[in-house]
Amino acid sequence: MESTIIAPPPPSSLAVFREDLFKGKVLFCTGGGSGICKDMTEAVLRHGANAVIVGRKLERLNEAAKELATATGRKVLAVQADVREPKQLQDAVTKTIKEFGRIDFVICGAAGNFLAPIEGLSENAFKTVISIDLLGTYNTVKATLPYIREARGSYIHVSATLHYKGIWDKNSQLGVVNQWVFLGIPHQAHVSAAKAGVDALSAVIAVEEGPRGVRSNVIAPGPIADTEGVKRLVQDSIYGKHPGKALPLQRFGEKADISNATVFLFSGAANYITGQIMVVDGGEIHTGLGAIRSYPEIVLKPLPKL
Ligand code: COA
Repeated sequence: MESTIIAPPPPSSLAVFREDLFKGKVLFCTGGGSGICKDMTEAVLRHGANAVIVGRKLERLNEAAKELATATGRKVLAVQADVREPKQLQDAVTKTIKEFGRIDFVICGAAGNFLAPIEGLSENAFKTVISIDLLGTYNTVKATLPYIREARGSYIHVSATLHYKGIWDKNSQLGVVNQWVFLGIPHQAHVSAAKAGVDALSAVIAVEEGPRGVRSNVIAPGPIADTEGVKRLVQDSIYGKHPGKALPLQRFGEKADISNATVFLFSGAANYITGQIMVVDGGEIHTGLGAIRSYPEIVLKPLPKL
């Protein structure tokens, strides 16, 4: 069989964008204490910005702030706040303004997830994820908007590709999905609904705030290696140790792929881009296949222990 070509790994954003691209700018990032959002923050810092990272766990935030500051030589403030609590976010914004005097960029990244079928999802469980992912985004936007207007700044909301695609068995006649339709991924009702809401919210912000010079876009990461999402969701791949083979670009994404998209969307190179969903997934969305293929067994058998 002809061998396939694997996409090269993502370059550092410094190899593509100017080092002082964000000099004098300030980033406010919820969920910046860990995972993809921490990496996105690091990329923005590397290009000269200072940053505030917001999260629930102060110890982890402080640790992350120290690491980020050491790695980039920039100022990083850790502020404890639960995005479900508007007052806590307003206080975090007040601290940001006191420390840095402005906010140019916001990443709405705080999110919660777990696998659960609808029958195992209590009212409170559903509400919890909607409150973190969707209301948390709304609360973050409300708290930061006056400053983002002032700076003619930009929002990036971290969504997901869950709700744009389905999982199919090998004999599916669907072949290629070439339009974004709302499809279901098992055990993700709460997150899919929340992220679909985030996508819609971002579009409205783009339309309402565009005339004031504010941009709002979504980044929807596909399968990104070494993240909670992939550890939890892609356990059942027909590709065994090489699940990236299911993707057109033949590899799983890396956090740096998302960071590079972040630097681009905040940069002047994206000045005419707003209200968009940037899917960063190695082309997965267009295959209609996904990395998981054991449907309907996945919804009929008990959930694996994680
Ligand atoms: N299956 C079903 N229900 C679950 C669940 C699971 N795996 N995990 C939590 N829930 C339910 C809880 O039982 C509770 O509902 P109940 O009151 O009816 O029993 C509800 O969700 C809230 O859970 P709780 O743990 O009290 O909420 P929290 O605010 O402390 O934390 C999360 C919420 C989502 C952050 C937490 O579930 C979590 O830590 N998830 C894993 C980490 C994570 O999400 N990382 C981000 C990845 S994108």
